[in-house]
Amino acid sequence: MKLVFLGPPGAGKGTQAASVKEAYSVAHISTGDMLRDNVKRETPLGREAKAFMDEGKLVPDELIINMIRNTISGDACTKGFILDGFPRTAPQAEALDVLLQEMGTSLDRAILFDVDDETVVSRLTSRRVCSSCGAIYNVHFDPPPEDGRCRNCGNLTIVQRKDDTEAVIRKRLQVYHDQTAPLIEYYTSRGLLSRIDGTGPKDAVLALLAER
Ligand code: AP5
Repeated sequence: MKLVFLGPPGAGKGTQAASVKEAYSVAHISTGDMLRDNVKRETPLGREAKAFMDEGKLVPDELIINMIRNTISGDACTKGFILDGFPRTAPQAEALDVLLQEMGTSLDRAILFDVDDETVVSRLTSRRVCSSCGAIYNVHFDPPPEDGRCRNCGNLTIVQRKDDTEAVIRKRLQVYHDQTAPLIEYYTSRGLLSRIDGTGPKDAVLALLAER
């Protein structure tokens, strides 16, 4: 199984990828999580990426493509992978095609989670995440445990992401519409796109995904 999850910020890509990973034992590759890990460890990549991320802008393509290259071809991906948040630009999509071709394989599907902008703003301003393991919560739809401990890793590390303020969310949406939405046509023209309604409850979206 080799899937790309496409959609605006807050569409539920990470939430659904966690469920699919558990059900099918495939790798969940989130470029956002990889970048945040680099920022936390203050690596050269993390130092370079931080300012772009804080402002809701995309990190330059060459940094992202170099970061993802070894991961996709590594042992963790032998059973397949879900790419969450990558590709996000035409050059990234083209680089992915070349990389998969070099590996003698190709994508199975690109899944687009369709969610309107106001739903995105509402979901992301109420999102909380575990900064240790990446588990995703929502104060309205899926609240963190009352004792504040992550139910996945048990750490007291549930936080609000720095880029989940309304101003930065609106910037990320603009970047999505300008730079990432053209990939819908890119994958449609290759016969790979499946569009699903991402606005229903989490389990309803998972059921739609399972039909694809
Ligand atoms: P990244 O971390 O990828 O953020 P994003 O694409 O903006 O996506 P999100 O993680 O915000 O949303 P999601 O769709 O995963 O939603 P989630 O499941 O959490 O990227 C961050 C930054 O890194 C970028 O701005 C950029 O700077 C940089 N970057 C990353 N990749 C890059 C790349 N390839 N190129 C260049 N730069 C890159 O759900 C959101 C909330 O909604 C949660 O609270 C969840 O509980 C809730 N929710 C989910 N589904 C439902 C539902 N069905 N009903 C109700 N609530 C729901």
